[in-house]
Amino acid sequence: MRSVSIIGYGLTRFGELWDMSLRELVAEAGLKAVENSGVPGEKIEAIYGGTMASGRLIGQEHIGALIADQMGLNPLPSHRMEAACASGSVALRNAMLAVAAGEHDIVAVGGVEKMTEVDTAEVGFALGGAGDMETELFFGASFPALYALMAKRHMHEFGTTEEQMAAAAVKNHKNGMNNPYAQFHKEFTIEDVMESGYVSTPLKLLDCSPITDGAAAVIIAETSIAKKLCEQPIEIIGSGQASGSLALTGRDNLTGIKATTIASNIAFKKAGLSVKDVDVAEVHDCFTIAEIMAIEDLGFFKKGEGGKATEQGKTAMDGEIPINTSGGLKSKGHPVGATGVAQAIEIVQQLQGKAEKRQVKGAKIGLTHNVGGSGATVVVNLYRRAK
Ligand code: COA
Repeated sequence: MRSVSIIGYGLTRFGELWDMSLRELVAEAGLKAVENSGVPGEKIEAIYGGTMASGRLIGQEHIGALIADQMGLNPLPSHRMEAACASGSVALRNAMLAVAAGEHDIVAVGGVEKMTEVDTAEVGFALGGAGDMETELFFGASFPALYALMAKRHMHEFGTTEEQMAAAAVKNHKNGMNNPYAQFHKEFTIEDVMESGYVSTPLKLLDCSPITDGAAAVIIAETSIAKKLCEQPIEIIGSGQASGSLALTGRDNLTGIKATTIASNIAFKKAGLSVKDVDVAEVHDCFTIAEIMAIEDLGFFKKGEGGKATEQGKTAMDGEIPINTSGGLKSKGHPVGATGVAQAIEIVQQLQGKAEKRQVKGAKIGLTHNVGGSGATVVVNLYRRAK
């Protein structure tokens, strides 16, 4: 298989973007990525796009074709990938595999979600479709409720506290202050989180990622070609994907996501690295408990110690392992189909030394972790500067 690198990226602002349609989001992120890569559009050979629920949220399907059309890239083959909140990472992974296999040399990858056209209840119902419709959503178990069950079990088994979960939100909102593309530029205290009102006990409003519009895009290329086109390409040195049961009832335990451990083991093995080599990571914090489980399942901390580590500042910008320097899903926002691609962009900026106020000094190896549903799809990627 050939080596693959990211050579350009583009993001829209994340947030409630009333003045932008899905196609405008796609065009802005896509064209910025093409411009940033410096590659003329005619050199791009294919498009991979991630979106979760455009059909339900805005009535538009056939997003692959829409992206090609909107970016002026007809007649290139264009693919829509759907894996709930991991749609963007699955699109990136499949594009990477097409380049690694030699089918294409240069490919555009995008992710988009336009979530604010409908009310919160309808968004919740659409997102709930990423769980098990028959055994979960039908009985009222929306996503906050599913992660609340995991939080309860984590608290029961390891003594994790609501304050420790709140510490993840406080940290991510602090990091988001330095991200011009983030949905929120607002800091909170532990008390603010604790008083923010229960959505599903023990998770409160400020334990949840928000409902977000946004798009993200990257251009990838075979690495020897990438080096000719880009001053500092960022190579994807390991990628793992794993599936788990759609419903929580199918899990061995609720205190972690097994697919995370499996996907990360595959990625680390391919890269020939261990978790100790990682300098900066973007992990899937759709709820604060999700970040705590992720840093344990990825191996940064022992099972049960993620809450304490977060409370002690070990995952802060100046901590042992900076987690979610972008602000994470919590503060940057979570336009579900775009999230995986946006995570990759944060790591590219970190490894290129272009993360400005969010820069982790000397970051050499980066990791992204993107979860679909309550853990039924997980993609983990590892990155470094192409040598
Ligand atoms: N974090 C911080 N602030 C938030 C927020 C969040 N997650 N969600 C909303 N807000 C803020 C809004 O900006 C608004 O502030 P303002 O009054 O200063 O303008 C206020 O809270 C009320 O917002 P509103 O839009 O009425 O909230 P809501 O009740 O419609 O939605 C949630 C709140 C938590 C239900 C919604 O954000 C949600 O469902 N999040 C989870 C999304 C999800 O499940 N994603 C997939 C995960 S797998």
